[in-house]
Amino acid sequence: MTDLAGLPTDDADVRKLDRAHVFHSWSAQALIDPLPIASAEGSYFTDYNGKRYLDFSSGLVNVNIGYAHPRLIAAIQEYAPRFTTIAPTFANDARSEAARLIAELAPGDLDRVFFTNGGAEATENAMRMARLHTGRHKVLAAYRSYHGATAGAIAMTGDPRRWGAEPGVPGIVRYWGPYPYRSAFHSSSAEEECTRALQHLRDLIMVEGGHNIAAIILETVVGTNGILVPPDGYLAGVRAICDEFGIVMIADEVMAGFGRCGEWFGIDHWGVAPDLITFAKGVNSGYVPLGGVIISERIARTFDERPFPGGLTYSGHPLACASAVASINIFKDEGIVEHARLLGTDVIGPALAKIADKHPSVGEVRGLGAFWALELVRDRETREPLVPYNASGADAKPMNEFAAACKERGLWPFTHFNRTHVVPPCNTSADDVRAGLEILDEALEVADGYYTG
Ligand SMILES: Cc1ncc(COP(=O)(O)O)c(C=O)c1O
Repeated sequence: MTDLAGLPTDDADVRKLDRAHVFHSWSAQALIDPLPIASAEGSYFTDYNGKRYLDFSSGLVNVNIGYAHPRLIAAIQEYAPRFTTIAPTFANDARSEAARLIAELAPGDLDRVFFTNGGAEATENAMRMARLHTGRHKVLAAYRSYHGATAGAIAMTGDPRRWGAEPGVPGIVRYWGPYPYRSAFHSSSAEEECTRALQHLRDLIMVEGGHNIAAIILETVVGTNGILVPPDGYLAGVRAICDEFGIVMIADEVMAGFGRCGEWFGIDHWGVAPDLITFAKGVNSGYVPLGGVIISERIARTFDERPFPGGLTYSGHPLACASAVASINIFKDEGIVEHARLLGTDVIGPALAKIADKHPSVGEVRGLGAFWALELVRDRETREPLVPYNASGADAKPMNEFAAACKERGLWPFTHFNRTHVVPPCNTSADDVRAGLEILDEALEVADGYYTG
């Protein structure tokens, strides 16, 4: 059965065509069974059997404004008859205004925007800018990070998604960022972790040669690899190191930016201005693909008389930019950044603290804004993770059972390794968030069942 637009109309047909013809990201194609989704609105989506799920993963942590926001859809519909596309060589009203708005939100003198189609192209181009600006080659990138799946972005990535792309592009030197709960530096406090993580960077710079290093890239608050909120002083410390050695500081805000941390950019929480910011996801909640690099004056000037050797057919796509303009204005009008901050301080933070008190399998709770993680363990004393690092198949059973318990009850969780993240759309109502947390609370009984401590 198809509708007037020629699209399949029921669960069976959507599923059958998906299985026959769609090749999915990051997956063994025969081992997956993607759930067909019939509709999505606000913080919920619904399958073809009418079952509704509260989306505690915001899609891929990108739908910061929720699904089908009426004003955002109207803005896209209004703009589409004017320009569905125009070459990036022209100036365009939507692109100009999107760049102005984004530059206005960015800290420091980050005043120019190079638009891309998503996050990977943003980090890829940020690396290229840093290398050309400094005339240096090496880039320091963190373990427990994700920067995208194109050649350079995946080379900078510090998680198993990189393994299949190795050896990859040369020149990436990896470092450990702060993670007090599983410290690479055997620290016993957040302050000590901060000092030691900064000293570790200095040690690496000494042995790699500061004059060889173009950039240090970091996720301001690490996303998929664990919502690792840096200790106070860490980002300022990295800034100082970059200044001392003439290194470009790249803040990857693809996941942390646009309200997720209860600030426009995660880095605003610590009042630090990097040299380059990469963004995507929440800039327009993915209604039309968009990302970009926000560039400081100093770096932009490098390319005043010398061409920047990079570009994309869809750089500054007008429909995508029009949706970013609308989304940013909606964020402002509806106070979405402030709402996300309050969700963190008044709703999610306190509720997760209670949940941690009740469930022995919750080893640590951390986060801010609408960006939280519960680290699940078998033993609080040893901190043995509920499932091993990068577990799959039978090894991942406890996490799969936990996720199934959430889904059964109408909650779509975000799980990664031994963690579940609480990352609903930034404008989810406090009541809906509380309802989701109650389901999470019930489902954690499953994780407790594996507790051995
Ligand atoms: C921090 C970070 N950087 C970059 C990316 C890559 O973005 P995209 O998937 O749009 O290429 C992601 C995606 O999850 C991300 O979380």
